[in-house]
This record gives sequence, structure tokens and C-alpha cells, in this order.
Amino acid sequence: MPFDEVFSRYEQMRQQCPVSHTNDRGGYWNVLRYKDIKSVIKDPYTFESGVPFVGSALKERFIPLTLNPPEHQMYRRILNPLMSRQRFEQMAPAVQALVTEILAPLLAAGGGDFASDVAYPLPARVLLKFLGLEDSTWGSLKAMSKERLEGRADPRRAQEAAAAFRAVVSDVVADRQGSPRDPETDFFSAILEESVDGQPMSTEDAVTIGYQLMAAGHDTTTSALTSAVYLLSTHPDVQQRLRADRNLIDSAVEEMLRFEPPLHRVARTSTKSTCLGGEEIPEGELVAINWAAANRDPEVFTAPNELDPARTPNRHLTFGQGVHMCLGAPLARLELSTVINTILDHTGWIELDGPYKRAAVGISGFDSLPIRFASRA
Ligand code: HEM
Repeated sequence: MPFDEVFSRYEQMRQQCPVSHTNDRGGYWNVLRYKDIKSVIKDPYTFESGVPFVGSALKERFIPLTLNPPEHQMYRRILNPLMSRQRFEQMAPAVQALVTEILAPLLAAGGGDFASDVAYPLPARVLLKFLGLEDSTWGSLKAMSKERLEGRADPRRAQEAAAAFRAVVSDVVADRQGSPRDPETDFFSAILEESVDGQPMSTEDAVTIGYQLMAAGHDTTTSALTSAVYLLSTHPDVQQRLRADRNLIDSAVEEMLRFEPPLHRVARTSTKSTCLGGEEIPEGELVAINWAAANRDPEVFTAPNELDPARTPNRHLTFGQGVHMCLGAPLARLELSTVINTILDHTGWIELDGPYKRAAVGISGFDSLPIRFASRA
């Protein structure tokens, strides 16, 4: 389906069949209303995690994404303080330095492809910094991730890409086991000091945690960055307001995340027969919850198809909610606000410069986004 039709299709389905079953891809339920999605995510015992997406080729154990309470809490207890807003704020200077470095060639040239030149490398390099991995590995990390996503429907390709990805993390974990660093600043040294259910953190678990963070943390943010710059370039009124009042940046970032969420859907599995939105969902069914549709539900958001940089409150579901709420949200927000602020600091105007190429829906965003900067008046 062309991207321009996606949100009107969601709207139509939300009105006509807000909870409905499809036989597509082995069969699953679609949930589109905000209130029904809240019911699903508030009840992780009836709607279990385990299969992260409709059509996942691999049943991988991700920590903490595919776990359920009470096991899930054991890992969140360890990860929450290591990925708190305060902890990520300490990364602000490093994020600013990377943004400055990566944007410099585009600013010098008066523009370029924001998707391939900025949004593609930035989140991977920020994540490597956070995890204490070599900056030089970002290219292979992105290549592996692309293979994982493209190979999603092919178990052999997905398996090979996952194995290559895990090998990179295994090397770092082995390194920290041999020569631990300061746990206050080094992620893997910190988690290797922890115990789970009375047992020391296993090598297997440490690798799985690192692997999940890498898998979850960069393509989503790449997508959010391209969407933000696209929205800035195509909404001159919003751009004007942000240039005039930088206090709006944080709420504008939230609104851009609401408007074009990187991840449209995730899945749960029903553990018992249950009624949702007037429909009876039998036990053992896959249930796809659609954050993107919920974010435009008129029962919750006034004028949901308008981009309002000052929208308050803005209870969008782009980072999920409930026990599995995104651990990396503060880092993604930091990257978004740093990029937007830096662009506004160094340019007088930003606009599209020719045809762009949207990425596949699911992880939305852009594969190519040519932009042009005008210098400051
Ligand atoms: C704009 C960027 C991002 C978006 C839109 C996003 C979105 C999400 C969503 C919707 C979930 C919930 C999934 C579910 O309920 O099944 C989630 C979970 C998660 N995200 Fe993010 N994410 C982003 C960036 C990041 C980053 C940068 C990291 C790592 C540094 C990260 C790490 C995680 C982890 C570890 C989980 C699993 C949490 C759990 O199961 O308890 N995410 N994310």
C-alpha cells in the first residue's frame, strides 16, 4: 500500500472494524483503537509477548522484549537504571559531537541526502558509543541489520544475519569478562556484575541483551530522524515556529513521533479466550497492536491529522506503553532534538531537494531524502 494511503486506511478500519481478524500471514487480529490497545498492553498475562511481529521468521529470545512477567521484571530491574533519562543525558556532549561531525559535510555543501548521510550512520554510532563498542564497526552493524530486516520472511537469511550480529556482541562481552571496566560508565561491565534470580548474569544473557539493544535501537531512530526532517521541510509553518521559539523543540519532537511513528505494529499472543472491542479473541491467537493507528485516534487526539508542534498533552504510543515500554526512548529523543537544533542553528531554511524514497511500512521513514539548506539571512 502506498504510504500516503496508510493512515486513511487505518482510519477507515478504526471506524468500521476496530478489532478484526485476517487470514493474511498465517492469521492474526488487528487492533486499531487507542483504548483497545491500552487494554491489551495493560494486561501482559492475557496478551503475552514472545512473537515480536506478525510474520517474524524466527522465534528469537530477546531480552527483555520477548519475555513476560515475572521473568521480564528481573531484567528490567537491571536495565532501567542503566538506561535512565539521567544516564542518557550524560551522553549529550557525545551525541552533539557526532551530530556536528556527521552534519558538517551537508552544511558545507548546502544540502545532501539526509537519509543516507546523516540518519543512517548517526543512531548506530551513538549506540556503539553507549555500549562501549568500536566506532569503526558501525558499517557492518548497519549491513547486518539490513539483512535481518530484509531476511525477516526467510528463516535461513534471518538466522545467518542474527548469528553475525551476535558474534560482534560476544566479542565485547568476552573482552569485558577478561578485563572489566568502570561499571559506572561501561554498559557491559555493569550488567556482568548483576545477578538474575540469584544467579550471576550468564554470558548468553549478556550477549542477548546487547544484541537486542542493537537490533531495537538504531533502525527505529534512523526512521524517526528522517521523518522529523521530512516533516520540518514540508511544514513551513512548523519550521517557522520552531525557528522563532526553540522552547517548542521538545513538544515538536513528540508530535513528529506521534505523526509518523517508526514502528507501526508489534504483536502479542492471547493466552486465553478474551473479549476485546466487542470481538471474542480465542486462546493462542496472534494480536497485532497498531501504535500508528492509535496515535491518530480522534477519541484521544484533537485534529489528529494535523501536525501541531505545541500539542499538549500528547500521549502518543510511539514508544509503546506498559511493561515493555521502550528503554531507549530518552536516547532517541536526545538524538532527535540535537539534530533539529543543530540544523536550525546553522541554516536559515531547510526544504526538500528533489524526489525522495520512502522505506517500507513497518519500520517507516525514508531510504533517500534529498534536502537543501539556505544560509542564514
Ligand atoms: C524512535 C526510536 C524508537 C522507537 C520508535 C522505539 C519503539 C519501541 C516500542 C514501540 C517498543 C515496545 C515494543 C512492544 O511493546 O512490544 C520498544 C521497546 C524497546 N526498545 Fe525501543 N524504540 C526506539 C528506540 C530505541 C533505542 C534507541 C533503544 C536502545 C538504546 C531501544 C531499545 C528498546 C528495548 C530494549 C525495548 C524492549 C523493552 C522491553 O521489552 O521491556 N529503543 N521500542
